[in-house]
Amino acid sequence: MKLENIVPWGRNLSEYQSMFLLSDLELKSKILGCGDGPASFNAEVTAMGGDVVSIDPIYHFSKIQIAKRIDEVAHEVLKQVKLNEKHFVWHTISSPDALYTLRMETMQKFLEDYEKGRSEGRYREGALPNFSFEDGQFDLALSSHFLFLYSDHMDEVFHLHAIEEMLRVAKEVRIFPLVTLEGNVSPHLEGIMNILERAGYATEVVETSYEFQKGGDKMLKIRKEEG
Ligand SMILES: C[S@@+](CC[C@H](N)C(=O)[O-])C[C@H]1O[C@@H](n2cnc3c(N)ncnc32)[C@H](O)[C@@H]1O
Repeated sequence: MKLENIVPWGRNLSEYQSMFLLSDLELKSKILGCGDGPASFNAEVTAMGGDVVSIDPIYHFSKIQIAKRIDEVAHEVLKQVKLNEKHFVWHTISSPDALYTLRMETMQKFLEDYEKGRSEGRYREGALPNFSFEDGQFDLALSSHFLFLYSDHMDEVFHLHAIEEMLRVAKEVRIFPLVTLEGNVSPHLEGIMNILERAGYATEVVETSYEFQKGGDKMLKIRKEEG
């Protein structure tokens, strides 16, 4: 992965809680964040005494390199959001400028935690669909704004392998959102749910309390059927 191809843009704990409907008890469980990038979820949960490991290819790079890349792209992202303002819901986040401030504060929190977290093994370079974790090592594996969102770039086979890998290492998987960058329900969603159900998993599309991208307010929950 080349740093110049990356657009770092991270969400915070409150957003992860809304996207994944995380209870206080779940926040105390062993969580794997798949593709957490510069989100502050890991930093904030760790500060509360929680147990999160984040995996992302960008953790190959140093704090200085990631910070520099954030500075290079943040204003361009803001410009693009302003051009596409009507595709977003401006309730919780009131304006593009408020979004910019929120994202910069969030990524600053991540950067402040990054070196310590990397030395503690909380930020690990890695990429779906192959992890080096043991079977069942985590209670919950989360994917925010990676799977399904980039359905135009990653096919159904990639999605299936990625989700199977998340299910191998965690008891439950949650993915948000279920729409593509264009705001359409992912063309892979139905086929993947059918395959997973035939393989003995319970799948459920759950309405959440988070909607920023219009129509992006649902998550997919997957777990092994009991008994
Ligand atoms: C749009 S960002 C989302 C960041 C964070 N999850 C959030 O919601 O704020 C997508 C992330 O997926 C990461 N990514 C790209 N390819 C990946 C892969 N094969 N496996 C895991 N993460 C990947 C990127 O580096 C980037 O940090």
